[in-house]
Amino acid sequence: MAYTFKEVAAAAAALKQQFDTSEDKKAILRSPIFAELFGQLKNMPAEQKGAFGAEVNDLKKEAVSWLQATMGTAEDKLASIDITAPFDINTAPNKRPQLLGSDTGTVHPLMRELDIVLNIFYGMGFEAVESREIDDDYHMFESLNFPAGHPARDDYDTFATTEGLVSPAHTSTMQNRVLKERKDNLEKGKPISVVIPGRVFRNEDLDARHEHTFYQLEGVYVGQNINVGHLIATLKTFLQEYYQKDIEVKIQPFYFPFTEPSFEFALSCPFCDKKGCNVCGHAGWVELLGCGMIHPNVLKMADIDPTKYTGFAWGGGIDRLVMMKYDIEDIRHFHSGKLDFLRQF
Ligand code: DAH
Repeated sequence: MAYTFKEVAAAAAALKQQFDTSEDKKAILRSPIFAELFGQLKNMPAEQKGAFGAEVNDLKKEAVSWLQATMGTAEDKLASIDITAPFDINTAPNKRPQLLGSDTGTVHPLMRELDIVLNIFYGMGFEAVESREIDDDYHMFESLNFPAGHPARDDYDTFATTEGLVSPAHTSTMQNRVLKERKDNLEKGKPISVVIPGRVFRNEDLDARHEHTFYQLEGVYVGQNINVGHLIATLKTFLQEYYQKDIEVKIQPFYFPFTEPSFEFALSCPFCDKKGCNVCGHAGWVELLGCGMIHPNVLKMADIDPTKYTGFAWGGGIDRLVMMKYDIEDIRHFHSGKLDFLRQF
């Protein structure tokens, strides 16, 4: 660039030389040459000040353009990433080289069992929807027929945020959602059949059978002419498949606001076949879960006509189910991080 002021032209030549020879190219923008030039402004005749200042600014822009020319584009600067597998992908999985950490971790026993549980329900035509870990009062209570002030709300004491959101105390919080989202199934002559696994939270006194955080599996089935027999048959079939043996089941009356009638569901102890053992506390039977026929108000709140459709639902702890399968004596082992416990599975 040609500069008319000889001071600026001389400074430009000196700067360019500095730039070409220095290691730290960016330092050029902080060069004292600029400060000197601006210093000269003070002693200039007033009518030249504007033109001189403009040339010094042009010089600065020129220096920036030298710098940009050496930097290239952002893409040029990024090192390329090797996205090919670090072994021949045609090698059988058990023959592949051990990658860092792959010999130290395993699937958590609860998650492995959950896969087994879900596969049984898939085979019975259910789909799975995951529950959520934060929810609101409407889904936790109102949509389940617990109006404000209902005394049974106290049975589901859980953690809450200052904004009034809750950590769900049961997976039933998902019922309204899955019913609403699938109510069109019914008009097409198809049932609603969903299982909902999820983590739930309770304000509990902790002991070998009670944790503040555990897993539940909810089930929801709605269609035409559905009755308690379908509920019992579904759960019995599942349990026999899960424990791979004949299981006896029984129900006894209970109370939940969201089912009518409501039941507590028990099975013959899969560990001792009713002979009496530690798993069933020598009772021969184990109470496993809550269930019932979905309350008409719960169907109505999901815009489903309870005079046309009926359904059943259940909800129970997955941890309990697994404890009974392997004779695990303390629910707290699951979340203890004890590797000697986890590695047995
Ligand atoms: N949500 C209940 C609980 O955690 C269990 C339950 C009972 C779920 C009856 C249901 C049901 O879906 O119909 O105590």
